[in-house]
Amino acid sequence: EKEHESITKIKYIEKIQFGQFEIDTWYFSPYPDEYGKARKLFVCQYCLKYMRLLKSFTGHLKDCKVQKPPGREIYRKGIISVFEVDGNEEPLYCQLLCLLAKLFLDHKVLFYDTKVFYFYVLCEIAKEGCQIVGYFSKEKESLANNNVACILVLPPYQRKGYGKFLIAFSYTLSRKEGIIGSPEKPLSDLGRLSYRSYWAYTLLELMSDLSTSSLSIKALNKLSGIATDDIIYTLQSMRMIKYWKGQQVVCVTTRTINNYLQLPQLKRPVLTVDLDCLDWTPHK
Ligand code: ACO
Ligand code: ZN
Repeated sequence: EKEHESITKIKYIEKIQFGQFEIDTWYFSPYPDEYGKARKLFVCQYCLKYMRLLKSFTGHLKDCKVQKPPGREIYRKGIISVFEVDGNEEPLYCQLLCLLAKLFLDHKVLFYDTKVFYFYVLCEIAKEGCQIVGYFSKEKESLANNNVACILVLPPYQRKGYGKFLIAFSYTLSRKEGIIGSPEKPLSDLGRLSYRSYWAYTLLELMSDLSTSSLSIKALNKLSGIATDDIIYTLQSMRMIKYWKGQQVVCVTTRTINNYLQLPQLKRPVLTVDLDCLDWTPHK
């Protein structure tokens, strides 16, 4: 269930202090009572607790012992780390994460009921601790096979490839589960751009390895783990789908594939998921 909350709710919080960053907010988020009416909130970058006063914030930073997200670290490569946090075991942290995320997400209704989700929290490791960069949430049981409910990269970390890394990570988990997953719709504009970029690159790379005669939507679906509708949407946007006897079929030449792969907007992803660094098996 989604609605455009921000149309009816006024955004009071204009910025947050988050670690070293002062971040302009984008949308309304239901921080309670007087916190929701503050123009600026101070948010601890480790435990995500929010405060209204600089004084409380500096006091908190001295006392706060938290240096990483709760839950289990399931991925570590270089300074990149991913924690799996169970919304049932860590409801407070997950609620605080949702409140923070809502400041940058327009079209999602906040789930206070965190227990039906896992949260995959992406961090950069520094000597002071694990700095949260972004996350995605995922329903524990999804009838629609959604492998992402909400995805966010915090503004200071955007456009560095972290979004596509999280997307790739979500597909990696789904593949381990043997599921063809897809993000929960509707996507935001930035979400759509990022997914389209991930889908297009992934599909083109696969296609360039296959002979064009053996190309089919089904084959791509199986090899990429990307849902059929998302494949059709992506290939259609590149005019690589034709109707043939009432069916949608892939129709493309090797030359077109290679031309696409050479376009500047189809950069090889900067960050990829290294399976050797993943310590995770599907939940039963
Ligand atoms: N302008 C133009 N293109 C963009 C922009 C932008 N501001 N941001 C991302 N893109 C496109 C680009 O193609 C980019 O690839 P490139 O930089 O190689 O050209 C691609 O998307 C992905 O870029 P990343 O750096 O991997 O993505 P980023 O770390 O910025 O995260 C995300 C993307 C998560 C969507 C981020 O913009 C964000 O958190 N936005 C706010 C929350 C949001 O809208 N989330 C998605 C909601 S939908 C859902 O939750 C299922
Ligand atoms: Zn704290």
